[in-house]
Amino acid sequence: MSLFDQLQQFQTWFNAEIDKAFAHIDQNIAGKLHQAMQYSVSNGGKRVRPFIMHTVGRMLDIDDKTLLPASIALECIHSYSLVHDDLPAMDDDELRRGKPTCHIQFDEATAILAGDSLQTLAFELIANADVSAEIKVSWMQELANRSGYHGMCGGQALDLAGENTQLTVEQLENIHLLKTAALLQAAVNMATACKPAMDKSEKIKLDNFAKNIGLAFQIQDDILDVTSTTEMLGKPQGSDEKLNKSTYPGILGLEQAIQKADQVYQNALEQIDNLPYNTQTLFEFAQFIVQRKH
Ligand code: IPE
Ligand code: IPE
Ligand code: MG
Ligand code: MG
Ligand code: MG
Repeated sequence: MSLFDQLQQFQTWFNAEIDKAFAHIDQNIAGKLHQAMQYSVSNGGKRVRPFIMHTVGRMLDIDDKTLLPASIALECIHSYSLVHDDLPAMDDDELRRGKPTCHIQFDEATAILAGDSLQTLAFELIANADVSAEIKVSWMQELANRSGYHGMCGGQALDLAGENTQLTVEQLENIHLLKTAALLQAAVNMATACKPAMDKSEKIKLDNFAKNIGLAFQIQDDILDVTSTTEMLGKPQGSDEKLNKSTYPGILGLEQAIQKADQVYQNALEQIDNLPYNTQTLFEFAQFIVQRKH
């Protein structure tokens, strides 16, 4: 099956599982907040982070069902990061996944609270998961570390501070590693956390694979912000330029940014080259990341 077909099949399954998870939230209590949370999660994301988590899981013989609370939790965190990223105080964007952003569809206060609630829902899902206490704690540590001040939020803060300034490539790489790669690392590490006896060096290689893929993912995001269209992206093309963000095409020029994405992609592949597992889907996924058009 092609990677495209695998991803599509996965999205269908995963979206249905997200709907089931949301059916358990008391809609009467949460009212508009519930709608805004569900709107922000169930609105057609690519599900790249859950996909990589379950791909690593399948490679290591971990059940999809076992990983599901972790992958839904991670997608809740990712979706919350997008809701807040789009707010007027951050990137001030009005379109996300082809639909009005959460604060446009609802209102700003609801969008802030929906983001907050998606974040706590993530940890609630993990706390209630049917896995050992050790695995739950590992999942929580991984998710908190990669999404918090020394992960995604830290990167977002540096990204905002970097508007209207000239950053070095090293500074920009650090931002991209934090704001984007960290959640891809969480995806891989939450899968390997289910295998406490797994060789440490293999875990590190998979973590490094995710780190490089995450960097390539954000470089490609920067490139698409310049080269694609709003219709294709489902989010406003030119958002970075509008805010005078530091980006790879901005600092290196488009040609060199494309080369950099390719080099980081090669670095990712090197990490998994000699792993004693069937890494074919990971190889194909890495290629998808740098070739994707939205
Ligand atoms: C967008 O992530 C934000 C970045 C980190 C570049 P995705 O491109 O994975 O967004 P969705 O979930 O598919 O909408
Ligand atoms: C944001 O990067 C990454 C997040 C942590 C949400 P961008 O601001 O470039 O993401 P898009 O382009 O709005 O999806
Ligand atoms: Mg942003
Ligand atoms: Mg943005
Ligand atoms: Mg972007």
